Amino acid sequence: MAESQVAGINMPQRVLLGAGPSSVHPRVLQAMTLPVVGHLDPAFFEVMDDVCSMLREVYHTSNFMTVPISSTGTGAMETACVNIIERGDVMVVCRNGYFGVRLADIAERCGAEVHYVDSPWGKPVDPDDLAKELAKHTNVKAVGIVHAETSTGVLTPLEDIIDLVHKHDAIAIVDAVTSLGGHEVRMDDWGIDVCYSATQKCLGAPPGLAPISLGPRAMEVINNRKTRVESFYFSLQELESYWSERRAYHHTAPISMTYALREALIMMMEEGLENRLNRHARVAAALRAGLEAMGLGLLGDPEYRLNPLTAAVVPDGIDDGVVRGKLLNDYSIEISGGLGELRGKVWRIGLMGDSARETNVFALLSALEIILSGQGYEVAYGASLAAAQKTLSGFAA
Ligand SMILES: Cc1ncc(COP(=O)(O)O)c(C=O)c1O
Repeated sequence: MAESQVAGINMPQRVLLGAGPSSVHPRVLQAMTLPVVGHLDPAFFEVMDDVCSMLREVYHTSNFMTVPISSTGTGAMETACVNIIERGDVMVVCRNGYFGVRLADIAERCGAEVHYVDSPWGKPVDPDDLAKELAKHTNVKAVGIVHAETSTGVLTPLEDIIDLVHKHDAIAIVDAVTSLGGHEVRMDDWGIDVCYSATQKCLGAPPGLAPISLGPRAMEVINNRKTRVESFYFSLQELESYWSERRAYHHTAPISMTYALREALIMMMEEGLENRLNRHARVAAALRAGLEAMGLGLLGDPEYRLNPLTAAVVPDGIDDGVVRGKLLNDYSIEISGGLGELRGKVWRIGLMGDSARETNVFALLSALEIILSGQGYEVAYGASLAAAQKTLSGFAA
């Protein structure tokens, strides 16, 4: 196994096929070795401008306030809530998995009176359920929804939901942590008011930054707050003064991570957004075909399944942890286990960013065939590989 060594620490070279982080391309890692400059160095301002303008392309938006927050995705969730919500505001949160639950938790901690629209884990959010909940209130300030639920591998289509939110004059806060760069996210066309993501999934950079974009309706809400934002670090008005031409110090930007994000975004532009989405769709279809040929069940209805993340049901009698342990130790492949109520019941397999490669699909399927068969699960050797290959050939035709 290849290893990288720095001052006595050996880090194994893994194939990252879990729920994130995804594998990082050497070009992106290389960018992180550029000299560290100051966060107020004009040379760095160019890097900042490049990052913001490419993020606007990825989000399909002209929103000025499109910036990377210095945190992982959870910090962006907090940024969205703490800036939009004032204590006592009413917020509706759609919960169809672990991250919807987290979003509601954060909204509550920000002082919102939170109402829930709950859907079974494995299903998308139902717009009718949201309509019923919204009809019960006259003063909903914001609605939170997870576009791509990483805990279940389910995508919720957004357009109808956002129309509903706007009919009730509320702000649509969308979690695109697992969808941005792997599924279409059209911020302006769909009318999303606040949308956040994270670097370590389909964007293809290491964990550490969380791009967020805010539209005019959201900025108006923030600019007309009656009370001060209860977080200094995540206050968007303050952050705007650093990311705008004023370049006023707020906190020290993570310089090397910003280089990495810039390089990852340049690679996306070189590939082309559409090609990138197609690549995610193609490899996900091959993976699903392979898993099904192995007799594994997949969570979610086919039309709502995510491309960047597939949730496969752990067969009866098979120990989830043993299989994941063998994958990691014997094949250096990481996949994730289930979260919350799905703990021990599903494997979450990510094909995100640079990890979304055909070779990774074949490597995982072959390793799984061997491991599962060693656990007493009946496997027809090669069947999953043939099914994956057939699917890929269908895409090429
Ligand atoms: C949909 C979703 N939202 C939020 C998060 C939280 O992001 P992070 O772990 O980067 O803080 C994740 C992480 O997996 C996620 O999948």
